Amino acid sequence: MGFAEEKQLEERYVMPTFARKDVEFVSGKGMYLTDASGKRYLDFLSGIGVCSLGHCHPAVVRALTQQAEKLIHVSNYFYIEGRGEVAEKLSGLLDSGLPEQEREGWKTFFANSGAEANECAIKLARLHARRVAEARGEDADAAPSRIITLVKSFHGRTLATLSATGQSKLHHGFEPMPEGFLPTPINDEAALERLMESVGASVCAIMVEPIQGESGVHPCAPEFLRTARRLCSETGALLIFDEVQCGIFRTGRPFAFQHAGVTPDVVTMAKGIASGMPAGACAARGDLGDTLQAGQHGSTFGGSNLACAAALATLRELDAEGVRDRIARVGAHLQERLSALPGVQNVRGCGLMVGADVPDAPGVVARALAAGLVLNATGPETLRFLPPLICEEDHVDEAMDILAAAL
Ligand SMILES: Cc1ncc(COP(=O)(O)O)c(C=O)c1O
Repeated sequence: MGFAEEKQLEERYVMPTFARKDVEFVSGKGMYLTDASGKRYLDFLSGIGVCSLGHCHPAVVRALTQQAEKLIHVSNYFYIEGRGEVAEKLSGLLDSGLPEQEREGWKTFFANSGAEANECAIKLARLHARRVAEARGEDADAAPSRIITLVKSFHGRTLATLSATGQSKLHHGFEPMPEGFLPTPINDEAALERLMESVGASVCAIMVEPIQGESGVHPCAPEFLRTARRLCSETGALLIFDEVQCGIFRTGRPFAFQHAGVTPDVVTMAKGIASGMPAGACAARGDLGDTLQAGQHGSTFGGSNLACAAALATLRELDAEGVRDRIARVGAHLQERLSALPGVQNVRGCGLMVGADVPDAPGVVARALAAGLVLNATGPETLRFLPPLICEEDHVDEAMDILAAAL
């Protein structure tokens, strides 16, 4: 079937929830994609931060092919080959860089997406607060249940994660929203302290993205994260880091929070974890990993044989020697090249998660696409760069030449 026919079918039968670009990619290798007409594109979006190892990395293709020939899915009623290994690997990566006394090991719930990983974190935080109240002989129904989130955050499109998302424009039309989420401005310690002072007794968690992605790459200052940690420790609330976009080596460390030296209680992840196989994960530190018991949370597909095979192959490749340094080095080169382009302002980010402001970002994205570079605009004046983590300086130079012309 040709592209014109495919397009017609999608327009007729697929809900128009995304303003799709006029391209259909049919194959990919490493940093490059090819469309239905045979035209090649350099990919600086990687499926929205998903294809960490680039397209069709041989280790992932091998793992998926071998697994698909053996077993694709059996459900969570049973043990799953490789899943314990993925969870062990995540636990080690999460613990790495933490102070010795805080390395307690992590237990993971496997989901299929970032929103689902966050749903798990929200349920876990509320249940934990009830358990604490019960243990103290208090009324569990009156246990803290509110969650502080950040203005301009993004946590997903399910109703609870949308409610947690501090962008009221995204709530519009879907009210009533689930209650209990309180947005506060990013990097405003005084506002966070005031909020905790007034409502802290009803708060079971603070949930933040260490680097906001969908809002256009806005990092939390280490001091702000440290304040959130202190307030959680003082009140018994859990500190949840949503690392769905900034986690899994995107910033040159396994998780973005590791740059700030702040220890969270719960970390959610998805996107880059399994190279494009749908997978999400919610990991909880130490005893918190036993909060959700049989019957209290679940998923039919989460942590399937296929997803675990892809995740294991992905994590092994990303954890190889030299990868972290390369991501940091190439990310710095990207920021340097971007900053030198006329009309580009406020270059920001960490590793290979970079944002910058330009006039008419959607127009720039369209012109770049026509010239063979895949980019994304998170807003009318913001470009976001999320290249595969295999990106090298040469790719950055090629992308910047195309971008310069598109600007
Ligand atoms: C920080 C963050 N959390 C959650 C999500 C939702 O993830 P998903 O689309 O996989 O449900 C996203 C998606 O962009 C995200 O960036």
